[in-house]
Amino acid sequence: MPVPRWTRPPKINIPISRTYSQKRNLCFMVLALFTILFLLGLLHPTVQHGPLEHLDRLKEWSTDKAQNLVQVLPEEGWGGTVKDWLDIPHNESGECKGWDPKSLEENDPVDCLKARQYRQTMRVLEREEKSEHDHWYFTKQHNIDTLRDLTFCFLPITDANWMPCHEKPLIVSGWWYTAEVITGATTGEVIWQGSVVKQLKMLGYSFIAVGPYVNWIEVAEMMPDVYHLLWSSDLDTVSCVTDPRCIAKEHYIPPEDAEDLSIGVPDEERGVIPIWALNIVDYWGARPREMSNNHYWWGLSEDGDWSYHPLGQEWIATPWPLPGNHYHLPYTIEEYCMKMPITPHEERKDAALLLAKRSAYFHYPYVSPASFWTNLSQIPDLELLSTVEEEEGKPLPEGLQTMGRQSREDYEVLVGNVKALVGMGAPPISPSIYSSLCQATPVVIPYFQEDYRMDGWWLYSSWSQHGPAIAIGEPYVYKYYAQNYTDLEHAVRRAMATPIDRFIPEDMKLPYALSQLSKYLSRDLKGMFDKVILDNEGNIPRLKKGVQERCYELKRCRDPLTKGRVPSTPPDRVTRHVIEI
Ligand SMILES: *[C@@H]1O[C@H](CO)[C@@H](O)[C@H](O)[C@H]1NC(C)=O
Ligand SMILES: *[C@@H]1O[C@H](CO)[C@@H](O)[C@H](O)[C@H]1NC(C)=O
Ligand SMILES: *[C@@H]1O[C@H](CO)[C@@H](O)[C@H](O)[C@H]1NC(C)=O
Repeated sequence: MPVPRWTRPPKINIPISRTYSQKRNLCFMVLALFTILFLLGLLHPTVQHGPLEHLDRLKEWSTDKAQNLVQVLPEEGWGGTVKDWLDIPHNESGECKGWDPKSLEENDPVDCLKARQYRQTMRVLEREEKSEHDHWYFTKQHNIDTLRDLTFCFLPITDANWMPCHEKPLIVSGWWYTAEVITGATTGEVIWQGSVVKQLKMLGYSFIAVGPYVNWIEVAEMMPDVYHLLWSSDLDTVSCVTDPRCIAKEHYIPPEDAEDLSIGVPDEERGVIPIWALNIVDYWGARPREMSNNHYWWGLSEDGDWSYHPLGQEWIATPWPLPGNHYHLPYTIEEYCMKMPITPHEERKDAALLLAKRSAYFHYPYVSPASFWTNLSQIPDLELLSTVEEEEGKPLPEGLQTMGRQSREDYEVLVGNVKALVGMGAPPISPSIYSSLCQATPVVIPYFQEDYRMDGWWLYSSWSQHGPAIAIGEPYVYKYYAQNYTDLEHAVRRAMATPIDRFIPEDMKLPYALSQLSKYLSRDLKGMFDKVILDNEGNIPRLKKGVQERCYELKRCRDPLTKGRVPSTPPDRVTRHVIEI
């Protein structure tokens, strides 16, 4: 984690009643806050002029404990010397007296959490280094580096390599798109995850990407004391919670009207993963049947609210502020796009750029007819540019020229030098819209239903290419009805004629994104779980009827774990393992 330098001026008092781990967390929060300040300083040169406003922001981000500290911060000179009011403990906690990583595991102090965390991390690290298990090869180096760094958190305080960390500083992600961040892919999901893992780092957390499914399960089983939470897809989560060999024995409950698959599974084969630790990361959320194809994908038979996480939508994080209780983890491309120069309107080409990567998009039934693009491309004073890749059997609309696929950098240059970016209907909810606005290039987006509406879930329905962007409105985002050529041409002309400044929605700026992530990470999932149980007459809610069946029918869910498999629990857990519900 990049931490600004600081000197060591006088200490301030921290109440002695704080426990060691509180202090450690506290000190990490504070380190994180400094990092944020530091970054804000880089991003927003005005930050030094408005310290009070930002002080308020920081208060929002912080936990109660850190809040007290923020209040004692001097009100001026954020950019100045940072005081050393981190009271890093110099004594080992009582339980960890005698903890020595070089000694044998059986000599570890019994109640020393750090010792358990260290052993668990080492086992996962060694397994990763050997790589004999089924794994995503491209995540190997990242995982090894991360796990090795993590071991420093769990060393005795006296060790020169010891590093103060959050008590549980790791996210174990089994989601493909978190892994893809490592390869630098550029789909919407990856851009979201890329931003979120950067934010994680700023807040002092790290992640490993472990897949496929069984690998992810095994790592979760191997390091129960290390991870803060588990991330995975909707499908893998449904697969796990409905599999008595995956989900903790105490947390298995068959879905509504479904067979109890736990009958006959021996105790030693029952799963150990707590249901509340399973968090879904998803680009779309659990969308109701009336505005999605979820009758097809999930076999939904009724309209309305639902969740593919049995505990509720609170366990589903998405990049959008969706209706219901989904958790909004915004992404920000601020850091990236603020560096890009803005081309003045008069220096730009009299051109509009079509937002489309694949020629197949032009053949989707709901997009505008090909003749619209033919006609738009023939307007004399308007150049229609395109970077679409022509696919076999999917010809481009007549008259439309393409310069072919561009690198991300070249594409950004292109976007910054036209007067409008024109969505033609696909891909849905693409982040490209935001990087265009960030380069002061207005966007034009279609909707597909004449009686288009934007209230509640409809904003996130497939009734338009990008509801949240349409909601921003003119002069940033113009909309047109996909079956009305006049409407399209007017929208493009108005967008091209109206210069805008760089625009980033408030909730996609770094301060807001960090505040959301920080709140997300400080949620007491176990406490939330207890409350869900209490509100459900003491039972774990059952998964909606038909969801599991449909998931397997479409072969989207994972094969259940094999008969005879025993979870990879750490050795000290075999006897001690108790999860109370
Ligand atoms: C830390 O250890 C030293 C030496 O063992 C001892 O004198 C001191 O009281 C300890 N401090 C705390 C806060 O336990
Ligand atoms: C496109 O242009 C042709 C030729 O001018 C015209 O016949 C046709 O109606 C136009 N199509 C649309 C959708 O405006
Ligand atoms: C098409 O769009 C134009 C411009 O927005 C509008 O004036 C016209 O009424 C629309 N045509 C239809 C058939 O809705």
